[in-house]
Amino acid sequence: MNILQVNSSARVFENGQGSHSTRLANELVGKLRAAEPGAQVTVRDLARQPHPALDEATLQALFTPAEARTAEQAARVALDDALVAEIKAADVLVLGVPMYNFGVTSQLKNWIDAITRARVTFQYGPNGPEGLLKGKKAYAVLTRGGKYRGTPADSQVPYLKTLLGFIGITDVEFIYAEGLNMGPEAEAAGLAEARAQIDALLGVVPA
Ligand SMILES: Cc1cc2nc3c(=O)[nH]c(=O)nc-3n(C[C@H](O)[C@H](O)[C@H](O)COP(=O)(O)O)c2cc1C
Repeated sequence: MNILQVNSSARVFENGQGSHSTRLANELVGKLRAAEPGAQVTVRDLARQPHPALDEATLQALFTPAEARTAEQAARVALDDALVAEIKAADVLVLGVPMYNFGVTSQLKNWIDAITRARVTFQYGPNGPEGLLKGKKAYAVLTRGGKYRGTPADSQVPYLKTLLGFIGITDVEFIYAEGLNMGPEAEAAGLAEARAQIDALLGVVPA
């Protein structure tokens, strides 16, 4: 089993401090590995290694045939190619998804813009779009300062369901850690609730 973990907070997680979404994604991956010790894990940490945004030069590079690209264009496309290769190789995708201003972080959006590629991860045919990344399972760990689960302000969940479904990933579980900026007690409760959801999803019996 190949696991791809994508950390998309602007904050790193280090020495027990920092990004909650990365911390919870680490824990989830740790539990997946405990269940399947042979699993290979690839971590794409967008806080430590930010991915560039789409701009005009990048679009030109992507739409230039490979053999006609300049060295600079080829280098830019290679950055996206690396992300595409990682998700193609993954059986399980674990996304750390902080809420920033009611959406996903710009780093997660940059990752999405890199991996959503026509004729590689999706294609259009006579019946409309077809996702080409089939047979994968995804977990999205959502971290929020407030509480928005199930409300119209939670645009992350329908967005991610649509996007992942579009590229063929329809088996998606959402884990919610909410209220993390509502004081120490709410933070602890939000993290505990997320851990309970992870354990329930993975069938882990609490110690
Ligand atoms: C730039 C920024 C924007 C944020 N916007 C929201 C928001 O719209 N709604 C919310 O509930 N929390 C918001 N938060 C709080 C984060 O969702 C919260 O701190 C969460 O833990 C971030 O994930 P992380 O710990 O992995 O970095 C924001 C935080 C930052 C830094």
